[in-house]
Amino acid sequence: MTSPATTLPRPAEPSEAFDSADLIRVTGGTPLTGEVTVRGAKNLVPKAMVAALLGDGPSLLRNVPQISDVRIVTGLLEAHGVSVRQGEQPGDLILDPTSVGRPDHAEIAAHAGSSRIPILLCGPLLHRIGHAFIPDLGGCRIGDRPIDFHLDALRSFGAVVDKRPEGLHISAPQRLRGTKITLPYPSVGSTEQVLLTAVLAEGVTELRNAATEPEIQDLIAVLQKMGAIISVLDNRVIQITGVESLSGYKHRALPDRLEAASWACAALATGGDILVRGALQGPMMTFLNVFRRVGGAFEVEDEPGELGIRFWHPGGPLSALALETDVHPGFQTDWQQPMVVALTQAQGLSIVHETVYEKRLGFTKALIDMGAQVQLYRECLGGTPCRFGQRNFMHSAVISGPTKLHATDLVIPDLRAGFSYLIAALAAQGTSSVHGISLISRGYEDFGSKLADLGAQVEFPS
Ligand code: EPU
Repeated sequence: MTSPATTLPRPAEPSEAFDSADLIRVTGGTPLTGEVTVRGAKNLVPKAMVAALLGDGPSLLRNVPQISDVRIVTGLLEAHGVSVRQGEQPGDLILDPTSVGRPDHAEIAAHAGSSRIPILLCGPLLHRIGHAFIPDLGGCRIGDRPIDFHLDALRSFGAVVDKRPEGLHISAPQRLRGTKITLPYPSVGSTEQVLLTAVLAEGVTELRNAATEPEIQDLIAVLQKMGAIISVLDNRVIQITGVESLSGYKHRALPDRLEAASWACAALATGGDILVRGALQGPMMTFLNVFRRVGGAFEVEDEPGELGIRFWHPGGPLSALALETDVHPGFQTDWQQPMVVALTQAQGLSIVHETVYEKRLGFTKALIDMGAQVQLYRECLGGTPCRFGQRNFMHSAVISGPTKLHATDLVIPDLRAGFSYLIAALAAQGTSSVHGISLISRGYEDFGSKLADLGAQVEFPS
């Protein structure tokens, strides 16, 4: 079967970083002005696709963007016998798991290094076929990103984990049982792992120190539609009562607040004005507060059928600030990189303390090459001490601005850094070559056309 997303570009492998077809040329100096639309969240859609594996019948997921993470998960699900096809409306995906079976390991192994989503297939596969094979994971190289919480949680449900050179073989000798789990850190993926496993486990599962990101709340909404019983209690506690079976679902994915914030930062850094259709105020409140403190202006449109947020630079100097990334409801780590680019244009010293990923400030080296003044520190600056404070990671930044940026050659290290480099190139004087743009396609739908529609001078040489 041909999936709707099979024509999407594949994410870059490290060896492809200088592929001449994987390049965009950006000429800076033009304020971005106009409208863009964001569709379903990259950090929800693949998980909702995985949830479809739990159902007895087909599911309909709406508002699905054409990003390569969707294509990767489509391939993984198809390898397990799930039929994935386009529905009637643009962005509709129909996922039918009725013929799920044991996959060909070579086909699964071909997905090694492509994404972090395969680990989330464990619970649903253990329930459906009693076994899961998980190849090496991919995902952005923004920290070590271990999966110890995932594996500990699966063992706690009664799964057996066998680590072999080709990947993980996980099995369920009997029906998984509800359990009590306290996460060492409110990890998004581990919370999703527990949810996707507990819904069909026997008995009650209590998860403590859970992540509560809006994308997780939306996944809980999907699972509830399927027949799951999930209570989100105070203090990061989630209680799941296992049920015997789940049905398919019909769900419209919540819009991508991380992409929306990226466009907002692009408006700020280029002195522009962008209406982001689909953006919602609720899941972006923390971002909006920071955007306002820096000196950006925004206006929320919340009439039915006209949802969106307009972001613009109101003129005059931007203000430096101290900022710390955190789990929800804190300032999301995925907002950090685009905001750092905007802060290079703010007056004075800004401090950014990255507490979620130990290596997510490494991308600033290229900004320094463009003329930005950024100093990295091992200490926890400007906020509360975090897990990385005593561990020798350069995870705090001091940004001195405003600085004029100039064009250069850029090589994208990870998804958000990639979009941030585009913003920097758009704010800079001259023409930059940005290599490795297929990494951006993992999470930003049709970004080249969107940029061109906003008046950016961009060119795809191939
Ligand atoms: N962690 C562990 N052990 C584990 C799992 C996580 O130590 O078993 C640590 C990580 O190393 C990290 C922290 O916990 O320091 C948080 O990781 P988390 O599990 O929350 O991240 P994730 O689920 O792998 C998702 C998003 C990321 C986003 C983070 C945080 C997806 C596919 N990815 O990753 O998105 O930054 O949550 O919100 O949903 C992005 O969109 O650019 C992106 C990287």
